[in-house]
Amino acid sequence: MTRTLPPHLLYGGDYNPEQWPESVWADDVRLMREAGVNILCVGIFSWAKLQPSEKRFDFGWLDRVLDLLAANDISVCLATATASPPPWLSKKHPAILPVTSDGIVLQVGSRQQYSPSSAIYRRYAAALVTRIANRYRKHPAVVAWHLNNEYACHLHECHSEASTVAFRQWLRAKYKTLAALNAAWGTAFWSQLYGHWEEIFTPRRAPYHTNPTQCLDFKRFTSDAFLELYKMEAAILRKATPHLPLTTNFMGFFKPLDYRAWAAELDFIAWDSYPDPVDEASARHTGAAGHDLMRSLKPERPFVLMEQATSAVNWRPTNSPKRPGLMRLGSLQTVARGGDGVMFFQWRASKAGAEKFHSGLIQHIPPEQSRVFAEVKALGAELKKLTPVVGSLVRNKVAIVVDWHAWWAVETESKPGRIDYAAWAQSLHGWFYEKNIGVDFVHPDADLTGFNLVVAPALYLLTIKSAANLDSFVARGGTLLATYFTGIVDENEHVVLGGYPALLRKTLGLWVEEWAPYPDGRTNEIKFTRSRQTHACSQWCDLLHLESASAIATYSKDFFAGRPAITKNNHGQGTAYYLGTKLDSAGLDQLLTEISRQADVSAPLAAPAGVEITQRESASGKFIFALNYHDSPVKIPLGKIRGKNLITGDSVSKYLKLAPLDVAVVAVES
Ligand code: GLA
Repeated sequence: MTRTLPPHLLYGGDYNPEQWPESVWADDVRLMREAGVNILCVGIFSWAKLQPSEKRFDFGWLDRVLDLLAANDISVCLATATASPPPWLSKKHPAILPVTSDGIVLQVGSRQQYSPSSAIYRRYAAALVTRIANRYRKHPAVVAWHLNNEYACHLHECHSEASTVAFRQWLRAKYKTLAALNAAWGTAFWSQLYGHWEEIFTPRRAPYHTNPTQCLDFKRFTSDAFLELYKMEAAILRKATPHLPLTTNFMGFFKPLDYRAWAAELDFIAWDSYPDPVDEASARHTGAAGHDLMRSLKPERPFVLMEQATSAVNWRPTNSPKRPGLMRLGSLQTVARGGDGVMFFQWRASKAGAEKFHSGLIQHIPPEQSRVFAEVKALGAELKKLTPVVGSLVRNKVAIVVDWHAWWAVETESKPGRIDYAAWAQSLHGWFYEKNIGVDFVHPDADLTGFNLVVAPALYLLTIKSAANLDSFVARGGTLLATYFTGIVDENEHVVLGGYPALLRKTLGLWVEEWAPYPDGRTNEIKFTRSRQTHACSQWCDLLHLESASAIATYSKDFFAGRPAITKNNHGQGTAYYLGTKLDSAGLDQLLTEISRQADVSAPLAAPAGVEITQRESASGKFIFALNYHDSPVKIPLGKIRGKNLITGDSVSKYLKLAPLDVAVVAVES
């Protein structure tokens, strides 16, 4: 069943009316209409208000809120309210509280204070969700469900008794026998052999390095434990409202949860994006990379930006505002990269509590005096003009492999050097972003048929199946770029012997004998064989041997001077590149320019640096988005492209002129 959303761009945010006297609500709704708000997430943190004590429920206020919104044509993505259990629950059942790896019990007074594996928490949460689902299943305002909130956001893992027992059950289901577990965990090492399941614990604080496979399995277990919570709520909601779409708010490159495994359970992907506006260039790239990762989880359906800030947040040491125009640019960037919804935390900035200095659509001042609200209203009006793009999709020719299991594995301790997996993937994404070459993020087992170029950064954990997939992608004519520390271990985090990366040795035409990781500040230099150009490199140097590959760059310094640093191998119909080090930006530019040419990937439109170009497509047409991040106007040659700028209504041809910080969305005439 396609559980659809309203057929316009969603615009709104979290609405927490329980924080305000009812007398404010009418004004809220009047202002929402003025701003063009058409959807709200309601009730996310209202468990204590809906169920003030175990036996007492109070839905009256929520009935009145939803009726008011329905009467004003404002849709609701209704929350299940399970993200912050009420204090009475943990007073009665302290065992639901989560425990850190040091054995510290996390207490009430904040939010998310529950162990994901607590059967008691699950029982109370299920009872609440059932009541909410049954009460509002036919409410005309409700168009979707918002399950819990940012699962695992503050609580990345839990070591409570309930979690320990659940971890053992998870391990029994996975390994069946202790012999299999002992083999997978390599417990012959350091006398870790387990003779009973009860001897096994979550990886709590220990004297020295904890078994890495145990740590990896615990990450897998934790992602699954939170997913079980989601599925528990989803099952209740599916039964009550099979026609309504379900979602929860993801957080982009968020390590604790394998969002790929989660994505299949969501009807549409929603996520929360809070790049730090203090550094505008990095903020726009962080936003773009997050959108690309989230969109790629369900490429056949537009995502929704569930939360962003109109201006400052409250949770950084220093919380910069978004200067005029940036909120609009970030919002339209969302649509440009495949989003069909632009939403915020939160409608009205709180008066009390830990988030009172977090911006809202309504600030602490009268809205008519607020430049933020003026921008909110202008954006609402603009988004209405973009209805034609709803449902259109982004199609890319470049994929970057990101796998949560590889991420978890490469960042557990006791490695040759420190690799920040997400940062490395994002930094490679950054080059394509600046060149306006669209990128998807894929799993290493994904169907790679539609892609010309696949980049695999530090894909440390690589299964036989994934290696075969990458190999056949190249053999069939694709271009692969793999980087250092790829293909080192299997799914149990055991080294695959035979010369790293053993499973890709033929594909890449080389083997790595050893590596020289560099501390911060230390550099080497590479020289490209053909152009003789030199560039600094840092962080990591693979010392490799060529088989069928040839060197396209060599190291200039250290005891391995003259040996290959970057290689190219013809394999089947395709080409496999290998990057054994981290290049400076000019070096990376030279390499990726060559590889992109080889793979025949380019931007939809040539534009000056600092102008973001994307493309969305649907059966009814093609839309080109152009976003000018400069404080000066730009002129973009359109070549043969002509069409209508949906924002201004003007016909465009030959050139697209953009004012400072302006955006155009061109519906292309075919
Ligand atoms: C997250 C949460 C919100 C709020 C915002 C503040 O995204 O989901 O409830 O705390 O952060 O930025």
